[in-house]
Amino acid sequence: MNVSAAISPLTVPVEIIDLPLFRQAGVQLELLRLDLIHPQISGNKWFKLKYALQAVEASSCRRVVSFGGAWSNHIHALAYAGFERGIDTIGVIRGERSAMLSPTLQDAERWGMQLEFVSRSQYRNKQDDAFLAWLEQAYGEFHCLPEGGSGEWVIAGCREIMSLFNTHDYDLICSACGTGGTLAGLIASKPSDVDLLGVSALKGGEFLYHDIRQLLTQAGIDDPGGWSLALDCHEGGYAKVSSRLALAMQQFTQCSGIELEPVYTGKALLALLQRLAAGEFSRGSRIMLIHSGGMQGLRGMQAALRKKLS
Ligand SMILES: Cc1ncc(COP(=O)(O)O)c(C=O)c1O
Repeated sequence: MNVSAAISPLTVPVEIIDLPLFRQAGVQLELLRLDLIHPQISGNKWFKLKYALQAVEASSCRRVVSFGGAWSNHIHALAYAGFERGIDTIGVIRGERSAMLSPTLQDAERWGMQLEFVSRSQYRNKQDDAFLAWLEQAYGEFHCLPEGGSGEWVIAGCREIMSLFNTHDYDLICSACGTGGTLAGLIASKPSDVDLLGVSALKGGEFLYHDIRQLLTQAGIDDPGGWSLALDCHEGGYAKVSSRLALAMQQFTQCSGIELEPVYTGKALLALLQRLAAGEFSRGSRIMLIHSGGMQGLRGMQAALRKKLS
């Protein structure tokens, strides 16, 4: 990828976050700034797309179809990466085309992604042979990248996140989960003395146990254990916000000067705060929170956050 406008992934900054509750408990919270990797292919997207797009470039077919909602970070990053690399991209988007596209989809179209809007029920069957055959007829041969970019290359890419910092220095590493692909990559490369906490951004995140184990099995990796999921900080569901989430994010930004978004990393922060309050972290422990990017999506969440703070 062209990283001219970006920090090299090998030099991703780690920041110490001085939140009073952590300080009082004697627990050090740090933040891995994956959000700074690239202005458009930010956070975990950089790692999720890296090998998938390399495989596309190595093949004779330079067209990718993928799936997402109107505010999808994955669709946004894929559209830009395709634009930059001369790869045709088609985004299958959940729901009707609205008169006014979301800024996410406006960007995607501007970068040349073709958008195919499908009903919610059609979207649920998006991987069916019949639908894929219809897409092939409409657009020609393509590579199919699953929703969220969590396909066969996700572990190879996301395991590299763990080489960006000295993992042995930490007692716990925490990251948000949507499809679980990113966490699967972290699990695949975690040292045995470090625990991982994945925080579900969705309600009913129990499926993540199955999907993460399946991704590991498909990649031929034995589950090393030492990881768990927080299923209790979804705040009502995907992209839902609560007052406690809005407040936690506001305090975080006031203390650190760093912005989070509420769909993923905000919820991961909340899970850490909740576990801190429950006394689950011992004095002297060190925690790494992964800022998985997706700041473009904040454009669709500002009003909801303001409402929760008023
Ligand atoms: C900003 C951000 N963080 C975290 C995640 C969760 O990643 P995964 O779907 O690999 O669990 C996503 C979704 O891909 C995301 O967009």
